Amino acid sequence: MKAIKKICCIGAGYVGGPTMSVIADRCPHITINVVDTNKLRINQWNDPDLEKLPVYEPGLKEIIQRCRNKNLFFSVNVQKHIEEADMIFISVNTPTKTKGIGAGKASDLKWIEASARQIGKYARGETIVVEKSTLPVKTAETIKEILFSSLKSGPEKNRKLNKFCILSNPEFLAEGTAIDDLENPDRVLIGGEDEKAIEALKAIYLNWVKGNKIITTDLWSSELSKLIANAFLAQRVSSINSISALCEATQANVNEVANAIGMDKRIGKFFLNAGPGFGGSCFKKDILNLVYICNHYGLKEVANYWEKVLEINDWQKKRLTKLVVEKMFGNISGKTITVLGFAFKSNTNDTRESPAITICKDLLEEGCFLSIFDPKVRLNQIISDLDINPITIDSNGNNLGGWQYANSIDDAVKGSDAIIILSDWREFYNLDYKTIISKMRKPCWIFDTRNVVDINAAKKSGFNVWSLGRSNL
Ligand code: UDX
Ligand code: UDX
Repeated sequence: MKAIKKICCIGAGYVGGPTMSVIADRCPHITINVVDTNKLRINQWNDPDLEKLPVYEPGLKEIIQRCRNKNLFFSVNVQKHIEEADMIFISVNTPTKTKGIGAGKASDLKWIEASARQIGKYARGETIVVEKSTLPVKTAETIKEILFSSLKSGPEKNRKLNKFCILSNPEFLAEGTAIDDLENPDRVLIGGEDEKAIEALKAIYLNWVKGNKIITTDLWSSELSKLIANAFLAQRVSSINSISALCEATQANVNEVANAIGMDKRIGKFFLNAGPGFGGSCFKKDILNLVYICNHYGLKEVANYWEKVLEINDWQKKRLTKLVVEKMFGNISGKTITVLGFAFKSNTNDTRESPAITICKDLLEEGCFLSIFDPKVRLNQIISDLDINPITIDSNGNNLGGWQYANSIDDAVKGSDAIIILSDWREFYNLDYKTIISKMRKPCWIFDTRNVVDINAAKKSGFNVWSLGRSNL
């Protein structure tokens, strides 16, 4: 296998963009072209003053500044960059199917298939194809079949010269910490059969990752490991969220419980923060996939077991709305609630599967007015997620129902009856409770679903405080 000089990545999203940026930064000898069919997205990546990058990640902007148009390029010219590449990463989205067989559970692989067909059509010479997207087990088989059939049916010269090797190299980056996760990974997993191709990919990572952190497996084990890693992580969140409700009922403190159990090395301290439910593009989709695969192999009990992780997650979101209504005298109609945090977690502008979407919709259903602030999520994104247009306040200052987009915490809280904190952005820790309450209508509530509020300070300023997993306040 020749040395890798040119990489093409299909898909300039939350995974493809940051991953390729870090590879470009750590491997100045490799030229990387990130291609996407979405022209707007590519234009945003090429934004000269870096203000409109489509993905927000701490540290990403700096890398783009260093590498863009040196050895990192963003382009819509899919054909050209596939033709020139020694190695192609597939990083396109694989949403849950909305209709047909497996609707609501199986992954829709049409974009993967489309990418494989494009590679089959345009690739020249020896090409290593790397699956980066999270995929159901055995997808590599589909990619292989499409690529190898292109060798049989393509023009004569392709047949003789082309060779494909397929590798699975799942991403384990978490949004909000993507750059750090990529620069200092716990492990890099490479699945495949062709030793030379595995070595070529390994050589890229060895530019900054220690050899003992790079593990190699067969293709299927690699694909399955990714699904299972996400399922286990999601399961931890659902476990601690279920215990948050028990803590509230029994006057215990979920943080203390998490701390006490986490000090047991066998359990570990990470990923034990109770919250409003997990979101993000992966957890739900991957568990649905796992459930689908288990059912497919007749493992009904296993499928049911994992499905419960999702049920608890939905229940957690629903119970929060009920609780807010209950605490506010059983009625929120005509009241204003400030929502702090709309992305599915802090340090990202991604709102996919964000618990805020369900919670905001449920609160709006109860007739209240929402004032929504998130440091990175743009107005249009919230409009599209809620599928309801914002309604401005009328000239007499009356709320007409609906919601408004606020540009700052100060703006958001004006005239509010309550604040609900849904993500743990730094600026939501230790708010200036005194100033904030002076702008609100009394009595005022803070509902803290992320345990970021300084309860004593908030109470001292006059707030009623409800904090997840410790509402014995
Ligand atoms: C997606 C999946 O959600 C995740 O499970 C997987 O691990 C990686 O791919 P993400 O990068 O977050 O993650 O998706 P997204 O931000 O939607 O980016 C995918 C990009 O692929 C989009 O910009 C889309 O335009 C592009 N795409 C899709 C193509 O360029 N060609 C296609 O044929 C299909
Ligand atoms: C996840 C995996 O962590 C990552 O390895 C994989 O590649 C993609 O899926 P991501 O979804 O980006 O990453 O973020 P993550 O940090 O895992 O958080 C997922 C959700 O769980 C968020 O909504 C987060 O707020 C929630 N969460 C996480 C908790 O509620 N409590 C925790 O202790 C941890």
